Amino acid sequence: MADVTFTVDGNKLTAPAGTLLIEACRKAGIEIPAFCYYPGLSLQAACRMCVVRQEKVPKLQTACTTTVAEGQVFTTDSPEIAQARKATIELLLGNHPLDCPVCDAGGECELQDMTFKYGAGESLMVDAKRHRDEQQWSPAVFYDRPRCILCYRCTRMCGEGMDVWALGIQNRGVVSVIAPNEGERLDCEQCGMCIDVCPVGALTSGSYRYKTRPWEMNHVSTVCTHCGDGCKVTLGVRQANDGSEIVRADNRDKSGINGDFLCAKGRFGFDFVDSSERLTTPLARNAQGKLEAVTWEHAFRLVGAKLKEIRDTKGGEAIGVIGSNHTTNEENYLLQKFARTVLQTNNIDHERTTDYVAFARAVAGHDGRAASLREIASAPAILLIGGDPTNEHPLLAWTLRTNVRLNKARLYVANEKRIKLERQAKAALQLPAGGYAAFSAYLGGSDNSIKDSTFRAAVLGEEKLLIIFGQEYRDSAVADLVQWGLGRPNVRFAYLGDYANSRGAADMGLLPDLLPGYVPINASGTFAQEYVGMPTTPGKTQPEMFVAAAKGELGALLVVGANPLSNGSIDLSTLKNTFVVVQDIFLTETAAIADVVFPAASLYEKTGTVTNTFGDLQLARKAADRAGVKSDFEILVRLAGSMGADVKALVPFGKVGVTADLGQSRGAQSGEADRHAVWLSANGLEPKLSPFDPLALLDEIERLVPAYKLDRLNLFGGNDIKIELGFVPVSALGSAHPELVKPAHNGLFTSGTLGHYSNGLKDLERHQAAEVAASAAD
Ligand code: SF4
Ligand code: SF4
Ligand code: SF4
Ligand code: FES
Repeated sequence: MADVTFTVDGNKLTAPAGTLLIEACRKAGIEIPAFCYYPGLSLQAACRMCVVRQEKVPKLQTACTTTVAEGQVFTTDSPEIAQARKATIELLLGNHPLDCPVCDAGGECELQDMTFKYGAGESLMVDAKRHRDEQQWSPAVFYDRPRCILCYRCTRMCGEGMDVWALGIQNRGVVSVIAPNEGERLDCEQCGMCIDVCPVGALTSGSYRYKTRPWEMNHVSTVCTHCGDGCKVTLGVRQANDGSEIVRADNRDKSGINGDFLCAKGRFGFDFVDSSERLTTPLARNAQGKLEAVTWEHAFRLVGAKLKEIRDTKGGEAIGVIGSNHTTNEENYLLQKFARTVLQTNNIDHERTTDYVAFARAVAGHDGRAASLREIASAPAILLIGGDPTNEHPLLAWTLRTNVRLNKARLYVANEKRIKLERQAKAALQLPAGGYAAFSAYLGGSDNSIKDSTFRAAVLGEEKLLIIFGQEYRDSAVADLVQWGLGRPNVRFAYLGDYANSRGAADMGLLPDLLPGYVPINASGTFAQEYVGMPTTPGKTQPEMFVAAAKGELGALLVVGANPLSNGSIDLSTLKNTFVVVQDIFLTETAAIADVVFPAASLYEKTGTVTNTFGDLQLARKAADRAGVKSDFEILVRLAGSMGADVKALVPFGKVGVTADLGQSRGAQSGEADRHAVWLSANGLEPKLSPFDPLALLDEIERLVPAYKLDRLNLFGGNDIKIELGFVPVSALGSAHPELVKPAHNGLFTSGTLGHYSNGLKDLERHQAAEVAASAAD
């Protein structure tokens, strides 16, 4: 659209013709009050709060429905307009309970703010207010009818935004009310988006209500710990006796790759952090074989001495290390460096949920072919093959729906199952069983087992195509699909992985044959020079470590933030001759059989970077604190210290150009810097820069891992940075071990081990199960 020039309050503004006046003004810093208007949702014009005067038009106009054209003249602020807005507020307050002192939205309520601004001290309504009891629609969503100002943001958000359509309007006129469309309870995705967009306290959150006031909390932006999409989440945190308590999760500044979106897991699944089952003291097995509490010093001495003894007598190959999909990039990098240089073993692996190795190999040398989530948000055409984003990648599903709705993007869905996103698709192709294997050949026109040439023709007709594919693709299937796309000029790819840092675990080299950046052990170049003591042959995969343990060849196993015994497939007697050390936040199945357990901090209690499945790198900030735990980073540094390793070689703190600090970058919690300083002094180290500061490793990661070129200004400013995978020489990559890839397939209310300890998510799961059972019985 061509730009037009118009006048607002005497200022000349320019915007594309057809822009909504309210948006054009907001961009120019002129705020027009609004209740029913919400960016991205359809226009409602229900509240009349945004009225402005347009020259030559007899009545006041609503800025949320007026589009700008050349030469128009507007006034947005005058006594007449203020009086009109005041009258609107008086009307809204007519039956409003005015229970602001106890309302959950108090201090964050748009109606409260507008009343303060425009004043509505006297009500012309003299009737007694009509009271209605509050309703609980689900464990997450409560509705207080008299507070509702009927702006219909919630119904539009649930319908257009979420494609759930669980909320509707009952009755007409002054007796209109918002209500669940089916019965009296919500059968929905429980995302809480309706609560978030409600401008007043009519919809409130089951986990937050009546707990605190907004000004009593610290608001810390970090990254959701649950799925591979990596939403930015703002945690509301307040002090508690044993550290701090997370009271609420939202994305209040609407920043980051998710804008205002969070799913049920991001919004309600934070309470695992405050679980009474958290480990808060190190445990070691006593003479009777029972785990008992010990001091940190004792635990470090015990583990350090044992690992050193095994390494020095049996060699590093007698030690195995299993890392995590939830720990930060810096922790993962440190873990593999610790394994390779201090333990002197390449026996390091993690629970692989996606074949990132195959993807790295497939796009190697083809810069710009791996797509970020932001590109998905604006791509004109998307082919989604496999996966079920609505359940497993809620932010991706939201992004796709939004792109289709607002930009008219063309979505093509090819899947062996029916998935909900087909409702947004221009074309959907149901593949026969085993159809993924043939799909690349079908796209290339050399396979006729899929009988639908119109779908292919439509896809091939797209000049620019973004292909998103699920974990159904591994190894050569990934290679075939990417190969097809590389033969066309404008095809980009995204590959779906499970957990908050599944991608970071692979990128940082928690692999027995690949160093950080997928650099093969036998082509290690700079790593070989810097990783003094590193063995040069590939180590054992996770299953191979358990085989070695069964044969009595694995003297020790260090497990960091993983739970390989969770699925019951490993015979516990396998480990009877292995010294097992676990770092975790709970006494998981694996921790329960360990010889020593270190209580670790969760992702919400530490600072570092994480990489989502699309390769978008973000800063996770320490939001909460828990007495008695340490970050995995600190535990590893202390373990190295207890083995007599050169800590400065492991974490290059204090080098010129390293901008670590003693805690400032890790959030507002106290005591940490002091604790570190005491340890540093006791070990003869200068307490100016800390080896416990994960950010001290950023320089090394940036220097040695080619893809991780960091735009620090953006990273520390809270923005996402794209990490490009195509950097490894194609010929250098070995086997991807597709058989080791075991997708988690977590749904909307499940999140692996973390989900087991979230009462919020379990409540939602039970509620939804009861709803499904009830509707089946109807
Ligand atoms: S929680 Fe989400 S899905 Fe449920 S009613 Fe609200 S917006 Fe709709
Ligand atoms: S519940 Fe909230 S968002 Fe929904 S119509 Fe009422 S005031 Fe608006
Ligand atoms: S979509 Fe994923 S990252 Fe975003 S809030 Fe949900 S679980 Fe967290
Ligand atoms: S914001 Fe314009 S009418 Fe409600």
